[in-house]
Amino acid sequence: MKPMKKTTYEEGRIRSRLDPPPRPMPVTEPFAWLARAHEEQLALCHCLEEIADSLPAEIDRQKCVYAAKVLEPMIREMHSGEESLVFPWIERTFRSDPTIGATLERLKYEHCEDECFAEELTEMLERLGAADESVNAETAGYMLRGFFTSLRRHVAFEQECLRGTAVPAG
Ligand SMILES: [Fe+2]
Repeated sequence: MKPMKKTTYEEGRIRSRLDPPPRPMPVTEPFAWLARAHEEQLALCHCLEEIADSLPAEIDRQKCVYAAKVLEPMIREMHSGEESLVFPWIERTFRSDPTIGATLERLKYEHCEDECFAEELTEMLERLGAADESVNAETAGYMLRGFFTSLRRHVAFEQECLRGTAVPAG
């Protein structure tokens, strides 16, 4: 029997982003904000992994449409928040750490790469959502896996270095 279709937690979160709520720019608690941003990015990765796993026969076209709509705006919003709120705070707070400048530069560079990648992936997801038969499932799977693997690695690295800087010595 075919399993009943249900909305996953991640899909619900992503879908809820389609209604633009007024998201006030965070001004306090940069680490709390970052933790939430990471959670959202990991939820997005999970959703993209489900799409990749469903290729080619079990694909949920609607999920592709949702992902195509939220991918770029979400990634840009997260990066912009990290770079305008969290990174400057870290730079100010941990001025004495000689490695912090290079670490933040690396993270910004990865943001840039992921934004370019997100643009290409959005186009692919739109085509998958529209049941475009010219899409090569193997290429689509490769792109999806490349993106979420790199984003998960980035989030893990960011968590690791920023956690290191956030924990007071002693
Ligand atoms: Fe980041």
